[in-house]
Amino acid sequence: MLNIFDTHAHYDDEAFNEDREVLLGLLPKEGVSHVMTCGTNLVTSYRSLQLAKKYDYIYCALGFHPEEAHEERKGDLDTIVELLKTEEKAKAVGEIGLDYYWEENAPRDVQIDLFRRQIEIAKELDLPVIVHDREAHEDTFNILSEMRPKGVLHCYSGSKEQALQYTEMGFYIGLGGVVTFKNARKAVEVAEAIPLDKLLLETDCPYMAPVPHRGERNDSRLISLVAEKIGEIRGMDPQEILDITNSNAEEFFGI
Ligand code: NI
Repeated sequence: MLNIFDTHAHYDDEAFNEDREVLLGLLPKEGVSHVMTCGTNLVTSYRSLQLAKKYDYIYCALGFHPEEAHEERKGDLDTIVELLKTEEKAKAVGEIGLDYYWEENAPRDVQIDLFRRQIEIAKELDLPVIVHDREAHEDTFNILSEMRPKGVLHCYSGSKEQALQYTEMGFYIGLGGVVTFKNARKAVEVAEAIPLDKLLLETDCPYMAPVPHRGERNDSRLISLVAEKIGEIRGMDPQEILDITNSNAEEFFGI
């Protein structure tokens, strides 16, 4: 298959340390046309940017993930803003959001404050946001519907009803390996119901590998399995799903 646009990857992750160069050299020959690799703090944002500068087909998102909220130091966001303003391959603010799943994460008000400041940055720079929402559907929805950035709900895990509310407001829905999981009833409903022009495909690699590779290291090539599953759900050719989501992503990121 061709035209795979992986809208959410973490190729700076140590899971790729052994063979990163070989793998990233290989992907374009195996159907991957674009990758958005996402930072999670200042260090991983820099690393993501380096990858984007090294490989034509890789772009990057820069920002603070909610799990990293306690890592934010004064001035970090100013540095991120500077990079977003000056670096051509930096195309989004991400990944940002709320994560109420992990007990050890920063308190909710700290996460919310950081989330809002990063949305504000994206709006000022006219860039999209890549949103992580884990067990924080209500607060995420309220903040996004109030602030209305251009955004994608990455690895969307909410209800079909809320997905439709998001797409009506112009937000995009990011789906990946989860749609292929046996227990993925909600994700399948979402894949079936949302308008195709608001769908983006992603890996979240090295995590979330689709069936039959569940639990293994994920990479952008495996998005073909996600396209097959969504094609099956919607009665469409998987290549058509890849073509449509590819142009959606190009438009979303302004590429
Ligand atoms: Ni991620």
